[in-house]
Amino acid sequence: MLPAGPQTRLIANMVRWVRTPLPWLDELHATYGNVFTMHLPRLKIPVVIFADPAAVRDLWTGDPNVLHAGEANAILRSVLGKDSLLVLDGERHLRERRLMLPPFHGDRMRAYGEAMRDVTIREIERWPVGKAFPVHTSTQTITLEVIMRTVFGVGGPKMEGPEFTSGPGIDPRLAPLRDALVKFTTLGTSRLGTAMLLLTPPERMEQMMLLSTRGLGKLLPWGPIVRAKAETDRLVLELIAARRREGTTGRDDILSMLLEARDEHGQPMTDDQLRDEMLTLLVAGHETTATTLAWTLHHLLEHPEWLARVRAEAREVGPTELDKLVLLDAAIKETLRLTPIIPMVGRVLSQPTTIGGIDLPRGSVALACIYLVHRRADLWPDPLRFDPGRFVGKKVDPTTYFPFGGGARRCLGMAFANYEMKIVLSTILARADLAAAPGKRIKLVRRGITFAPSGGMPIVMTKRHPSARGREAI
Ligand code: HEM
Repeated sequence: MLPAGPQTRLIANMVRWVRTPLPWLDELHATYGNVFTMHLPRLKIPVVIFADPAAVRDLWTGDPNVLHAGEANAILRSVLGKDSLLVLDGERHLRERRLMLPPFHGDRMRAYGEAMRDVTIREIERWPVGKAFPVHTSTQTITLEVIMRTVFGVGGPKMEGPEFTSGPGIDPRLAPLRDALVKFTTLGTSRLGTAMLLLTPPERMEQMMLLSTRGLGKLLPWGPIVRAKAETDRLVLELIAARRREGTTGRDDILSMLLEARDEHGQPMTDDQLRDEMLTLLVAGHETTATTLAWTLHHLLEHPEWLARVRAEAREVGPTELDKLVLLDAAIKETLRLTPIIPMVGRVLSQPTTIGGIDLPRGSVALACIYLVHRRADLWPDPLRFDPGRFVGKKVDPTTYFPFGGGARRCLGMAFANYEMKIVLSTILARADLAAAPGKRIKLVRRGITFAPSGGMPIVMTKRHPSARGREAI
């Protein structure tokens, strides 16, 4: 028998899921405990939500051929394409994941450190002094710029220089792609985009999208989102075609590497497959990190004692000594505990499976609830308090703390995101004195599948320190 859950009408469940999912999860947790079943109309199959570390362990250690994350992420097919790593399962997932992982680790990842710092410094230089501005927009600019360099590379003669997507001597094809991606993510995470994503069955989405490209269909409200996606696809395909023409010799960026890759039959990836993987990295690799950066600044500004400690550390430690940023690392971890931007991750069961001691039928969806586990009072004393001290000198347990998901599907960009966040935040804290924007209350708002601070997270820079350690030293 499935665990108990809300008996409200399906449509009522859906409305709450879209509008106020987190308070609703809290309410369900208080009523039903650490495991409950939800019925969502679109899925027509039971969704079992686990806030139980033993179940989380089963989900991380189970066979990925049985626990399908790609199927659970099916709503992303219309956004990222059917060949996106996020929606693949089985052999192909494994193969493409192995291929895409190395640039996001170790020395290959560290090679992007300088770009991360340069882009951040350039962005800080544009901030007004003494006037509120939305820092989330700024962190999005930084992380998009960084991921574009990582994906398309900085090795070619046209792509040198700190401002390659807009500036002298820069590949002119990247600027339009950056603008198209900003438009696509802004429209895609708007209220309409979010509702469309969450309420349209994945199999129906393609029809809906097609409809809005023809005749009067162009007037449909979601037309601009579909056109923004088409434009992004077109520009990514153009860049792929250009790289094919110009060759990949001497380049070790992700596009060149995927162009060189061959499957077990010696076949290269098709243009459509390449496009979907490029888009996946560009979208998953910037929005998530940008939002976590904004949340970290929010929590630090709300806790001046921690802000002072983390800032002192950032000003003390040299730019190449990221390992010494112990307090900053703890502040980022605590931010992802309290305000994880993705509240849960799912697996569709391809055969009957026992999870956390509960027998689930084939086809059901098991969700590991990041948000609820991270707030369990028995696992995290005084759970609503922001206290980075919890993480100082402690190893984390992947069944009680998992903002990046887990198992074979754990976030591909975890190390990269952590590295980037430390560089961006230490650069900001070393170079800028910050204050919360007066009179603005920050709330949590849904942006597509992620949860972000409201109003673009306004802050005020009270002073800039232009000569702080940084740029030259890395
Ligand atoms: C703070 C930043 C980030 C957070 C919180 C985050 C979170 C997540 C989560 C929760 C998942 C699902 C894991 C699961 O199902 O178990 C995921 C998957 C993924 N993330 Fe991230 N992510 C972040 C940054 C990045 C970056 C920078 C990249 C770019 C390289 C990236 C690329 C991906 C990809 C490709 C997947 C799919 C992995 C697979 O299915 O095998 N993410 N991420």
